[in-house]
Amino acid sequence: MNAPFQFPAPEDGRLDAGMQAGYAANGFLLLEGFAEAKACDALSARALEIVEAFDPKAAGIFSSVREAGGRDEYFKTSGDKIRCFLEDEALDARGDLTVPKSRSVNKIGHALHDLDPVFEAFSHSDKLANLATDVGLADARILQSMIIFKPPRIGGEVTWHQDATYLRTEPDSVTGFWFALQDATLDNGCLQAIPGGHLGPLRSRFRRDGGGMAQDTLDETPFETQGAVDLPASKGDLVVLHGRLPHASTANRSDRARHAYTLHAIDGTCDYPADNWLQRAPELPLRGFAP
Ligand code: FE2
Repeated sequence: MNAPFQFPAPEDGRLDAGMQAGYAANGFLLLEGFAEAKACDALSARALEIVEAFDPKAAGIFSSVREAGGRDEYFKTSGDKIRCFLEDEALDARGDLTVPKSRSVNKIGHALHDLDPVFEAFSHSDKLANLATDVGLADARILQSMIIFKPPRIGGEVTWHQDATYLRTEPDSVTGFWFALQDATLDNGCLQAIPGGHLGPLRSRFRRDGGGMAQDTLDETPFETQGAVDLPASKGDLVVLHGRLPHASTANRSDRARHAYTLHAIDGTCDYPADNWLQRAPELPLRGFAP
């Protein structure tokens, strides 16, 4: 029998032996009710305020996305900032929005947890610090944060990938903390994962390459998606994801939003390559989960 992966969230974030065994065997855990509903609502509301204040023209996005390399640059320098990223088809050929601004943004990243007080408070707690220790991060450091909107009807799918492709350490340590800020269901694009898939190799690495980006194939073993499971989650549930766990999410075909907040942490004792896409200003060092 497969090890279970879904449990009521432990009050203090500490994983018992059954949870530890489930994480080791599956590469993920779904912890029900980890965050309070009102804390989730506060994050969603704050995220919408950030979008409301976002002026794509002032941010230079309209010109930059249409210039070769401009989009790369906007992304590549976002590791220590709060930036809004548009849905692929949100701009027409003239650089005007094709949908209302509130539905044009795909995500916000990548230093919400350091730069915005509402996100900062949510992202730091003894409960999260305990959990990070118990999934094996000896010296957990929060590397990035993202709000993923998955807007009704136009929120696109996220194809199968491993987070360690994008955030590499030596040895691998990146771990994802995915919070459902709204109910994530089969029709609005909940997570999907392959139990045990984290035991396979890392398939590729995305990295800086001169002025641009490159993706190297490391291993051609296909993801065994026939063994995938859907992970519907209620508001406040937390999915913890091993960095090599293959995961995905389908498009949002429903008329309901599906907001999620993700944190990715690494172990500060591991080496952090200089060609990882995410690089931070020295003035903004990585912090742990403790408040
Ligand atoms: Fe991911």
